Amino acid sequence: MTGARGQYLSALGIRRWRQRAPRADAGQPPATDSSAGAAARPGPAPRPEVPTATHAGVERLGWEELAERVPACTACELHRSRHNTVFGTGDVRADWLFVGEAPGAEEDRTGEPFVGRAGQLLTAMLAALDLERGQVYIANVLKCRPPENRDPMGDEVACCEPYLHRQVTLIEPRMIIALGRFAAQSLLKSSEPISRLRGRVHRYGPYDCPLVVTYHPAYLLRNPAEKRKTWADLCLARENLG
Ligand code: URA
Repeated sequence: MTGARGQYLSALGIRRWRQRAPRADAGQPPATDSSAGAAARPGPAPRPEVPTATHAGVERLGWEELAERVPACTACELHRSRHNTVFGTGDVRADWLFVGEAPGAEEDRTGEPFVGRAGQLLTAMLAALDLERGQVYIANVLKCRPPENRDPMGDEVACCEPYLHRQVTLIEPRMIIALGRFAAQSLLKSSEPISRLRGRVHRYGPYDCPLVVTYHPAYLLRNPAEKRKTWADLCLARENLG
């Protein structure tokens, strides 16, 4: 494996990669997964209704108005501890939309998604697909950082959901990649473990955009042996661009 692509694949921990012939059970979730311990954590708590006063008309906003509305949002308690909202970044007409969980400390400081160590790995994942960050759109389920990076709570997800939903509608991506258990369960409104959600193509939103689930880059930093599965997920996504 040589050249730039080889270097990116190697950053993903993949020394030699060959596309496998489709399995007889293709489309079915794998029966077992070594990450089941991490994946078996409970899903997001049930969501209360979105406070409609704060979100009135979000579904009709254009990009500029939306980008102004998010930093002014006080719909949930996270606005009290944030330094910056993290709206999202990239090409607003991108084919690919990558959705993470929530900003971390670096993202809260800079207002940009995926700028820490996990972000560097995400950049390598994109490069392995011959994509640069500016060619895709990157956003999170939550626009504000949960204190101490704790798991987002149900009411926080409910409050933020209209913003991401509007971004998806405006971008009209041809593929959404849900990064990690939390983004996957939130977008798909599922409590299934990530081991059962990855490995197949789901649908999201008003026009049934294809959605593929893979591991969060932060999880891959802790579990590099799973990078191979992530590469398989990204290839599945590339084959199923809507
Ligand atoms: N993790 C996420 O899920 N999103 C970010 O923006 C950074 C880290």
